[in-house]
Amino acid sequence: MTTYSLTSALMRRGAEFLGSDHAILCGAMSWVSERNLVAAISNAGGFGVIACGAMTPELLDTEIAATKTLTAKPFGVNLITMHPMLFDLIAVCAKHQVGHVVLAGGIPPKGSVEAIKESGAKVICFAPTVALGKKLLRSGADALVIEGSEAGGHIGPVSTSVLAQEILPELAQDNLVFVAGGIARGEAMAGYLEMGACGAQLGTRFACATESIAHPLFKKAFFRASARDAVASVQVDPRLPVIPVRALKNKGSEEFTAKQIAVARMLDEGSVDMGQAQLEIEHFWAGALRRAVIDGDVERGSIMAGQSVGMVTKEEPVVDIIATLLAECEQALARRKAA
Ligand SMILES: Cc1cc2nc3c(=O)[nH]c(=O)nc-3n(C[C@H](O)[C@H](O)[C@H](O)COP(=O)(O)O)c2cc1C
Repeated sequence: MTTYSLTSALMRRGAEFLGSDHAILCGAMSWVSERNLVAAISNAGGFGVIACGAMTPELLDTEIAATKTLTAKPFGVNLITMHPMLFDLIAVCAKHQVGHVVLAGGIPPKGSVEAIKESGAKVICFAPTVALGKKLLRSGADALVIEGSEAGGHIGPVSTSVLAQEILPELAQDNLVFVAGGIARGEAMAGYLEMGACGAQLGTRFACATESIAHPLFKKAFFRASARDAVASVQVDPRLPVIPVRALKNKGSEEFTAKQIAVARMLDEGSVDMGQAQLEIEHFWAGALRRAVIDGDVERGSIMAGQSVGMVTKEEPVVDIIATLLAECEQALARRKAA
């Protein structure tokens, strides 16, 4: 077995926390991060995370049970904080004794972190700023992910490199901080580990793995794309609480603009309130992503992808992707040590 001693030393805290061999998370990707990819990641020594997305508690129950039949290794579940049945989903995770719950999509609602911890699970939250990171840790988060705007899917406004410089020196020594967004090679992982990160989270790099159920046309779109094709959506109406989404540009991107105009009109007419408007937008994304990932509609579906998409050039088994990342990381760390 190949050992990656320098990498493992820097990933030790993260790997111990996750219960995996390596502190490499495959970030939850709606429709993509289901039983097959999640189990493959965990079986390969990384940490898979089921994307609950808009699933009902019954569907999540089935997905967790099915994942358990494919891996005996630890894996997590990603829940979206604005899901109307969040607490039922937390109960499903508790029933299955899921070890780690990732709360995504905003500040966790009151009582949610406590409810997860009551089941004995660890809570992982996204920290967009130092101040919010500190607040989340005070509220019980066991680990943080900082995710820069290079990432695929819903994004914040600040790049990974800047977030890392702001947050890692401040929080990473005494707390567990994973870095995400724009990472596709081990050299980048090495840099963030040296800055104090306890591990890395990647999405785009894993989306087209052999084990990913994404439609062949979705994968083909990834292999063809370059960094500049993965663009952030634009906000049409300043009132609309639209979180930008990074995806490959296509006809679907234009349809999102039209959707925003329609939702803004519904707000004007008073037929929806702000919360419902946000749900409308999120349902649009869930539907559009499903069309691309599952149906292979790469014209009108949403091909969510990060800027690292240009470095995804072929279908590879998860075990090879992880081995490549670790070898690159180890070589980078060894070069610096020797210098
Ligand atoms: C197709 C796709 C779908 C995603 N869906 C979700 C999601 O449902 N929930 C979530 O928290 N993050 C989601 N993400 C973000 C990933 O979990 C991960 O943090 C991100 O991809 C890391 O950045 P990278 O794409 O640059 O590797 C998604 C990303 C992609 C590419």
